[in-house]
Amino acid sequence: MKRLNGKVAIVTGSTSGMGRASAILFAKEGAKVVVTGRNESRAQEVVNEIKEAGGDAIYVIADTSKKEDLDKIVDETLKAYKTVDILFNNAGSLSLSPFMEIKCDEWEKSFKVNVDAALILTKKVAPIMKAKGKGVIINTSSVAGLMGYHGFVGYVTSKHAMSGLTKSMAIELGPEIRANAICPGAIETAMLDSVGGVSAVQAMVDKSPLKRAGTPEDIATVALFLATDDSSFITGQLIRVDGGVDI
Ligand SMILES: NC(=O)c1ccc[n+]([C@@H]2O[C@H](COP(=O)([O-])OP(=O)(O)OC[C@H]3O[C@@H](n4cnc5c(N)ncnc54)[C@H](OP(=O)(O)O)[C@@H]3O)[C@@H](O)[C@H]2O)c1
Repeated sequence: MKRLNGKVAIVTGSTSGMGRASAILFAKEGAKVVVTGRNESRAQEVVNEIKEAGGDAIYVIADTSKKEDLDKIVDETLKAYKTVDILFNNAGSLSLSPFMEIKCDEWEKSFKVNVDAALILTKKVAPIMKAKGKGVIINTSSVAGLMGYHGFVGYVTSKHAMSGLTKSMAIELGPEIRANAICPGAIETAMLDSVGGVSAVQAMVDKSPLKRAGTPEDIATVALFLATDDSSFITGQLIRVDGGVDI
């Protein structure tokens, strides 16, 4: 029995990295998946891969910093699949400016993509989930949503906000809806490549008990756990998936 049979899942930021791996895994487990991102060719590739494996998926091209695009994600989902059971707020934007250098537009973009989109999308799908008596929200925060790091003030602050947002969602949207956040450590994706890849975080990896960076699949399997009833008594949690750094 597939674990997400009959479920409809929106995965933001699923044209790449951990969102892509999660969309593919959710579809393999029977979910109808809505793939989103700004890059149409990569979105099409993910949908093709899902369909070639016998799954069901559509893509919606959307910039999650734009309110009208967030409306489009939910509208297209309902048009194709009539409902939403799982929302994975995973799209994220990295901001690399230190405190004294960050400009307002970079700060605002961090919040729009990393926090506001999750608030807006969740407000749109929560009434549907409440009416069904069940729903799951999964947010991607970060280890940078749990502790400070030098040189990433927009990212660190917005990811801390995502952690707080997750707790507020869990408290205010229960008992029908469970909301949890995954806090990844260093994961081998395009985002990590943009700051120099695994070699840029080698010191962190070396002092971690598992001595490796994570893979997108390491995150996807945790997202699947949070999406299913296997985690039915877990809500409001910030779950580190980081190979044990800083324990
Ligand atoms: N990799 C790490 O080490 C790490 C660690 C902790 C947390 N995270 C978080 O994990 C999440 C996934 O990142 P990843 O590592 O898998 O990176 P990735 O491979 O670069 O994927 C990022 C995804 O977010 C989407 N995205 C970014 N900005 C967007 C926007 N304005 N509108 C719509 N989609 C947007 C991208 O889609 P398009 O390019 O198609 O728009 C892409 O699908 C992010 O929230 C990130 O902050 C990553």
